[in-house]
Formats: sequence, structure tokens, C-alpha cells
Amino acid sequence: MNNLSTDDIRQTYLDFFKQKDHTVIPSAPLIPENDPTVLFTTAGMHPLVPYLLGEPHPGGKRLADCQKCIRTQDIDEVGDESHLTMFEMLGNWSLGDYFKEDAIKMSFEFLTEVLEIPREILAVTCFCGDDDAPKDEEAAKIWIEVGIPEDRIGFLPKEDNWWGPAGQTGPCGPDTEMFVWMPDSTSPDGLRGASEPKGNPETNPQGWLEVWNDVFMQYNKNADGSFEPLKQQNVDTGMGLERTAAVMQKCGNVYETDRMAPIMEKVNELADADDLTHKRIITDHIKAATFIIADGILPSNVDQGYVLRRLIRRAIRSGRRLRIEADGGFTPMIADEVIAQYGHIYGNLKDKSKEIRKALSNEEQQFGKTLKDGMKQFEKAAQSASTEIDGVTAFHLYDTYGFPIELTQELAKEQGLNVDEKGFNKSFEEHQEKSRAGALQKFSGGLADHSSETAKLHTSTHLLNAALRKILGDHVYQKGSNITAERLRFDFSHNEKMTPEQLEQVEKLVNKAIEEDLPISYHITTVDGAKEEGAIGVFDDRYDNEVKVYVIGNDQITFSKEICGGPHVARTGMIGKLKIKKEESSSSGVRRIKAVIEGGADEVEFAEED
Ligand code: ALA
Repeated sequence: MNNLSTDDIRQTYLDFFKQKDHTVIPSAPLIPENDPTVLFTTAGMHPLVPYLLGEPHPGGKRLADCQKCIRTQDIDEVGDESHLTMFEMLGNWSLGDYFKEDAIKMSFEFLTEVLEIPREILAVTCFCGDDDAPKDEEAAKIWIEVGIPEDRIGFLPKEDNWWGPAGQTGPCGPDTEMFVWMPDSTSPDGLRGASEPKGNPETNPQGWLEVWNDVFMQYNKNADGSFEPLKQQNVDTGMGLERTAAVMQKCGNVYETDRMAPIMEKVNELADADDLTHKRIITDHIKAATFIIADGILPSNVDQGYVLRRLIRRAIRSGRRLRIEADGGFTPMIADEVIAQYGHIYGNLKDKSKEIRKALSNEEQQFGKTLKDGMKQFEKAAQSASTEIDGVTAFHLYDTYGFPIELTQELAKEQGLNVDEKGFNKSFEEHQEKSRAGALQKFSGGLADHSSETAKLHTSTHLLNAALRKILGDHVYQKGSNITAERLRFDFSHNEKMTPEQLEQVEKLVNKAIEEDLPISYHITTVDGAKEEGAIGVFDDRYDNEVKVYVIGNDQITFSKEICGGPHVARTGMIGKLKIKKEESSSSGVRRIKAVIEGGADEVEFAEED
């Protein structure tokens, strides 16, 4: 087996498929340009959906690439051997060209002849069949033909052996996954060779590490949940680069691979305590954050910005567990190492290195301040406690001030106090369901992204939303929103292209509201209360019971009333002037506007509670 570097594996893969007549295409950005149903690009197929549905790709019917991906659903597993928030996915596609036989044969050739992974430590799984689609005997037969013994082939249901769609609807199908024997990567004999492979991932799930997935996209999933055969049969594959590097470099986990290890080492240098999981969390999260910022997102309380904020804060909290000082310099230092490891492949990391450092540093400082406020709260609670900090207070410290329970416990211990962990867990569970926006509501005010530019753009988004409803009608609802320091992007429900006149009217209406210098304030109410008073906003279970309603208007007019975490500017006059740059289709029934603002106050005041 070759000991290949991460860079070698990436290149070898692309070269292999190029030689098999595939066009190598560049990685798409992490932020999907045309799909408001997901926040991040989660797989290589994601940017290729239109082509999987039949549109001709300029590169032809065979493509290959290395796509950067973000998967936030795995966030709780980060810290183990193999799950990462941001990872690189090697992929090859057939757009109505080859199907099962060639896909499997090429995968097998790459694994056994190029990477030289011994076939004795390989196993595969295929789809076991259900009401939607039959058992994939065809794939299993091809595996047997190429030389995988029958007892190394498992059959699993949809949760394991079916892939897609990437959003709510779209192309999908049964898949076959490839695994390498890696029984206990923490034990010295694990991947390092001594123990014998056992069974397959169906009979013995513990010992096998998935490295590659070949999806046979034969179906389109409709909005009503039904599956219909696709016009063209496609192949979509995804090979985890970091996992493959762990296999090839015999290091048992992704963090010890050649490009990840130096980042982990940087964390090690700064840490003053030993805790592998926290070190891995920092490595993973700051790597992901670095890539996300490079793709144009800043920490905020909405959408991708909110995920980014969570990643950075989670890393800082892990840093605290390792006694790493976080006053603005810690996370940029880790990001520097990420850029050093990946900048030669992803040039925008280098180009944006200043922005990356600044965004991380700002967020770290803001969060540091909140942690300081939390300390004050802790001191208060400690003073009034006789023997223990109660669970509700511990949870409040966690939820509002970002204090991990371990931190509260550590601080309590120093003062001879216990923490009611059971009570904490109870509060935690009660709040878990509502966590996203619940935390968001409480966090706002002290914690939100307080840059003047984003607040101005954020308030402009509310003005735009209201203006669109006034000009186009009440069918207009926000479908997505994304704010960078430079522009706002707003997706909304509307079935046809806006006319130039409508665009002009909307722009004029927004600018009139700005000229009128309307005051902005918020009040806190329940979701039901907000509905009753006619506030717009996404009324789903993302929101906690209590919500903030931001009102733009004076005694004469209410221009906009919208549920939102904030922050917003105090008066519309601080915004400057809105300019719509583009109106385009985002997806079926959804339009997208990109707009910028010009002028306005350099330093804004923020809207307050009325
Ligand atoms: N799209 C498939 C996956 O992500 C290849 O596993």
C-alpha cells in the first residue's frame, strides 16, 4: 500500500479519472449559489444538480473534481476519528453515460491498483431494497465479479445505502459504499495491520471505515415524497479525502494525516491541558470557519453566519477547557496554519487571509466580552449559593454566556461548591429542541455581529422585504437571506421575473423609507403574539417561545414589522442608499435580489427595546 500524502491522493485521483476521459472541474464555493433549501454545499453532486437532471454540462458527460464540503449534521461527532465539519470530497460523475458496472470497476481499480489497498481489507455494502426500489443485486454481482468475496458484501436499508436528494427534492438513488478494515484506530494494531478483518459493515459495523460511496442516481424525489425514474441514469461518487489519507498514511484518524496534523500541532503548542477531543474540535472548527469566511460569510445570527458563529464559539470554548487565552489572537493563529496547509490548493484562503484573521479576531473578542459578563453572573450565583449552583443557573450560564458545564463545575469547585448537573441536563433537554433561535434570541443584544455595515444591510433587508410585499403582493415571503460585509442577498417567493419598473418601484420605496429617517425599535413577545400583531418572519420551530419583533416606522406609518434576532440600526437614515444590483431566479418559484448600500453612517447606533 502506498504511503501517499493528501496532495498526492487528490492529484492521483483526478489524474486517474482524467485518463478515463473525465473532465476535471474546479471545486464550487461552500455557499450554494442556486439552492436556498440548504445552507452549505454538502457534497460534490450538489453544484451539479441541474446536470444530473439533464441539462448538458460544458465539460461533457464525464466529470471529476475535489469539492470542499461542510456537513453540520455531524457536528456532535466531531472529535472522533473520522467525522469532520469541513472535508474534501473526491468525486467522479457520469451524466447519463456509464452506470453501475463501469463505476464499480473504476472504483475497484483505483482502490486496489492505484492506491494498492489490499483487497483483503476491503468490504462493500449495497441497498437491501424496500417499497421504493428493489434490492441492488446488480451492484453486488459486479462486486463479486471484480473479486470482492460474498461475505464482504453487506446489504443495508435507505439510511445507509441510499443517497440524496441534497435538498428537499431532486436526484437520488441506491448506493454502494466501500469500506476499509480499521477495527480500532486508537489501538496500535488497528489499521496498522495485525488484526484480521471480520465480516462486513452489515454484520460487523464496528471495524469498517467508509471511504467511498458510488451513488446510482436513477430517481428524482418529488416534493410530495414520491420517487420517479430520472430521464438519464447518472453516477455520483464521493470519496472522503481525509479518511483516505488516514488509510494510506496508516495513522488511524484524520487528525494525524499530513495536512491536518500541523493544525492540531499548533493547537497543542497553545494548550495548557490535555484533552484530545477538545483539541480535535478546535482543529476541525477553525479549519471549517477559515474556509467559510474565505467564501464570503461573516459571523452573524442568521443562516450560514450563525453556523459560522457557532463553530468559532465552540472552538473558543474548547480552547478555554485547554486553558488557551482567547482575547482575539488565538483563532487567527490556528487559521494561519489552515491557510499554510491548504492555501496552495484553495487560493482564496491566501487572498482573503486578512479578512479571515479579522473576522475571527473580532468574534473572539466579542465572545470574550460575553464570557467576562458571564463570570460576573457566576460570581453572583456563587455568592448566594450555600453548597451548590442550581441547574437552572448553570444552564443560564451555558445558554446565555456560553459557559460549558465543565467550566462552571471547575469554577464552582474552586469555591468549594457543587453544580446540580442533573438539573442542568434537565434544563438543557428542555431547551434543546428550541436551541437554534432560542440561543439566538438570548444572544442578541450583547453578542450579535455589531459591525455597522452588516447592521445597515440587515435593516435594508427588512425594508426590502416590506417593499417587495407592498409592490408585488403578500405572497412574497423570505426564502433565504445572506449578508456579507459588502452586499445583501435576499431570496423570496415570487413566480416570475420582476420587471425593470417593479425593481425601480421597490428601490424607490426603500430609499424613501431611508430618507424619512424612520426610527427602529424592538419589543419582545411570544410567537403567537407576533403573529397576531401581523409581524412577518419565519414562523417555524426554530424560534423559541419568546421572539423579538423589530418595527420600522413612526406614529404615522409602520413600514415593516418582522421577527428577527437583530441587530438593526436605530434609524433608517443611517443606511445611506440602497441599490439593487441584480434580480434573478434562485430556484423554482424563488427569486433572488442582490443589493448594496452606498454611503450612510460609518458608525451606526443600534435599535433598542422600545
Ligand atoms: N453524494 C454522495 C455522498 O455524498 C456521493 O456520499
